[in-house]
Amino acid sequence: MRLISRFVIAQLPPNQTLVVFGASGDLTARKVMPALYNLFKLGLLPEQFSVVGYARTPMDDSQFRGAMREAVANHGGQAGQSFEESVWQGWAPNLSYVQGDYSSPEDLSRVVGAVDPKVPILFYCATPPSEFPGIITGLGSIGMPRGSRIVIEKPFGHDLKSAKELNALLHDNFAEKDIFRIDHYLGKENVQNILVFRFSNGMFEPIWNRMYVSSVQIDVAEDLGIGRRGKFYEQAGAIRDIVQNHILQLLATLMMEPPSSFDAESIRDEKVKVLRAVTPIDPDAVVRGQYVGYRQEAEVAGDSQTETFIAARMGIENWRWAGVPIYIRTGKRLARRATTISVTFHDAPHMLFEESGMLRPEPNHLTIRIQPDEGITITFDAKIPGPEMRIQPVDMSFDYDRSFDVAPPEAYERLLLDAMQGDRTLFTRADEVERSWEIVADVLTRTDVLFYEPGSWGPEDADRLVSPQRWHLH
Ligand code: BG6
Repeated sequence: MRLISRFVIAQLPPNQTLVVFGASGDLTARKVMPALYNLFKLGLLPEQFSVVGYARTPMDDSQFRGAMREAVANHGGQAGQSFEESVWQGWAPNLSYVQGDYSSPEDLSRVVGAVDPKVPILFYCATPPSEFPGIITGLGSIGMPRGSRIVIEKPFGHDLKSAKELNALLHDNFAEKDIFRIDHYLGKENVQNILVFRFSNGMFEPIWNRMYVSSVQIDVAEDLGIGRRGKFYEQAGAIRDIVQNHILQLLATLMMEPPSSFDAESIRDEKVKVLRAVTPIDPDAVVRGQYVGYRQEAEVAGDSQTETFIAARMGIENWRWAGVPIYIRTGKRLARRATTISVTFHDAPHMLFEESGMLRPEPNHLTIRIQPDEGITITFDAKIPGPEMRIQPVDMSFDYDRSFDVAPPEAYERLLLDAMQGDRTLFTRADEVERSWEIVADVLTRTDVLFYEPGSWGPEDADRLVSPQRWHLH
């Protein structure tokens, strides 16, 4: 066992080369490179390891290193890590750069030819999705070192048809065990903790069903707008960007049956099973919104109908969850950044305190705070001290920063390490992604949007969706 700060790993990943497609892009700068730097700093990378950046932008090795140094200095501060020049100097020689076209087998073979042919390559597709097919086909045609693997960023396809085509193309060129479809929400610490919370404790699972739970809310709220991603976002919208992947993954992790063991296939089998029981989102139980000012963002159409907000009422048709409404909501430019899951429980069967006029203001609920302020809170009633029987909801809270000395690692650190180790537990399987597209299929074609003010909680109609309840985040 190796205990290094935020990670305990049995052994270092095997030697490999990482080729990052889209090396001059935003994702590489904001997420991939800072995560690699932190893993290097923690001594968790393979003994023999190098990173080759690949993109169309003309650059030499030293320009690439300069750009990556700036990226890590600007974005590497997550999880308490800060840039250190001496660490960077040790890390920088591992980086090199190849300029090339994504769909040119000749260019791609230059990158494969530039590295040790006996060492497997982990190909990381951090490009816009339109480049994935060219890269996959190109790699298939040039021959890769044995044991090579591929990581595919989201969005995985544009709809069910394109996701199926992408899966077919991947399967023509890679074995499923070598395909890593990334959804970085699965790498978030408190998302992984949902499994431990549910299946390592005896006290929660018995009440985790329709007999005790009256509703579930999943919120992925962001305060920022779309930034410089207008072109991408116009094609995507909130359903493709967040619901089809992040929200459905949260839902599956929260509501699946207990897996028979803690291995990738058992867990993914259960996730697919519950996703199959999720009823496709009904277009009549959806509110689509767009923040005021979105149409003025760069590369956004002046009459765009793309949704930057969506709220929906969903359900699961199985024995555990039949009849329990699941409310989901996500949006850009909302009042604050918060990802939470709230599980609300039925009222007590007989309210002793109602007679004395002591109505309870809200039912018991449990809140899983994915970010920020990671933790779990149970909200229940308590008697307000004093001679009268007055009741008030109080919180019983678990907070990461009070319970643990170490900050939760960045999702990308964990997922990159898992991909290097070949562990697919936190990556999505072909059938899972395809089922997720089926669930959102009927709302993809909706075009009406309601406007909302930046800094609000979205269109007011979304409140009516949960009525007579309220959104827990408000
Ligand atoms: C990405 C989306 O997958 O997740 C972005 O494309 C979104 O639009 C981001 O901002 C949110 O991730 P996080 O980790 O900041 O919650």
